[in-house]
Amino acid sequence: MTMDSSLTQAQLASIRASALKADFPLLLAHPELAFLDSAATAQRPAAVLDAQRHFYETMNANPLRGLYKLSTEATQAIAEARAHIARFISALDDAGNPQQDAIVFTRNASEALNLLSHTLSHLVELGPGDEVVISVMEHHSNLIPWQQVCTLTGADLVYLRPNTDYCITQEEIERKIGPKAKIVSVTHVSNVLGVENDVAAIAARAHDMGALCVVDGAQSVPHIHVDVRALGCDFLVFSGHKLGGPLGIGVLWGKPDLLDAMPPFLTGGEMIDLVTETGAVWSQVPQKFEAGTQDAAGIYATDAALTYIERLGMQAVEERERLLSIYLCERLREQPQIAIIGPKEGERHISSISFDVEGVHPHDVASILDMHDVCIRAGHHCAQPLLTYLGWHSTCRASVAFYNDAGDIDRLIDGLNQVWRIFHGSR
Ligand code: ALA
Repeated sequence: MTMDSSLTQAQLASIRASALKADFPLLLAHPELAFLDSAATAQRPAAVLDAQRHFYETMNANPLRGLYKLSTEATQAIAEARAHIARFISALDDAGNPQQDAIVFTRNASEALNLLSHTLSHLVELGPGDEVVISVMEHHSNLIPWQQVCTLTGADLVYLRPNTDYCITQEEIERKIGPKAKIVSVTHVSNVLGVENDVAAIAARAHDMGALCVVDGAQSVPHIHVDVRALGCDFLVFSGHKLGGPLGIGVLWGKPDLLDAMPPFLTGGEMIDLVTETGAVWSQVPQKFEAGTQDAAGIYATDAALTYIERLGMQAVEERERLLSIYLCERLREQPQIAIIGPKEGERHISSISFDVEGVHPHDVASILDMHDVCIRAGHHCAQPLLTYLGWHSTCRASVAFYNDAGDIDRLIDGLNQVWRIFHGSR
């Protein structure tokens, strides 16, 4: 690094290498890879892969259905995973016990948001004259479901917009969340900019106006300690695979009284107590929202992913990723041909940093980086309205996780210099 770093020598030394890569079979098998796309999906530690295999080898049966030991064990594994997840996000009742029945499993965060948009529109009887408030920073998963619901019900979709410093201000929150708001649904951390929104302030304003508040934690739960009580939201969604769990597991937490009052989303087996030829009585929460056979092995392995992260310590994860983000931002800022799209301060980025290489399409940047075994995401990042709002069609995005090290970032910078040379010759 040529510029003066705001990191101390000790901090730089702590991120110089990553002993944790040894826990990740893919990273171990491919030391040549600089994997900087964890915002899309994280790598999985061996503990998660082992857990998935362990489930199939020792307790494979259809959970909830069988009356024999194997099925009971599978059922128990799911119950324990629910309790673990509830503790992880501090979803505790007044006595401090995990709200395990307030954890609903879905296939991914998008399905959880579809569940919410569908059921909440019925719960609040959304109609013309009502407003659903989201932000322009939303990933399409937290945008299209609400767009659809507004089209179907005649409600208006209102957008919170960040200022030129990428902040959704208190003034904007008060201007946009008014008495017509019935549902507010916002991302905790932007998957493009990496900035954290003040969702506690947004939830407080939503409640003052009598609206419900949903938080999309897909980009926050893997990186910072999320406490649903401190946020004050009514619902939180996130996906297991961004936490190092297997693909295919989404999580929805909701306040128990609201989950009880909501109608089901998907219907079929396992979500009923009684069925006649003319009707059905729904199961209790969470089964009411979990039609069909659950991916019990995936849930068991998601539980193992949380255990792995807890062994490292969420605070240690946060601190290491904070240092990596600062280092990444500083190294990008050193390059005259690169413009950071978002805050210039590394401290303000949670894992993700978007940037542009002058005169080179992000797809070309990513393809050339790939030739150098550097993995980043390029494109609209499933957040087209945000890119349009910011005046871009496409960006490059690097995102770090605790298993990265400064060497991965140096490799990115070397690759970016190579991109520049290919397109513009030497500087
Ligand atoms: N939401 C994921 C991303 O931002 C897919 O890359």
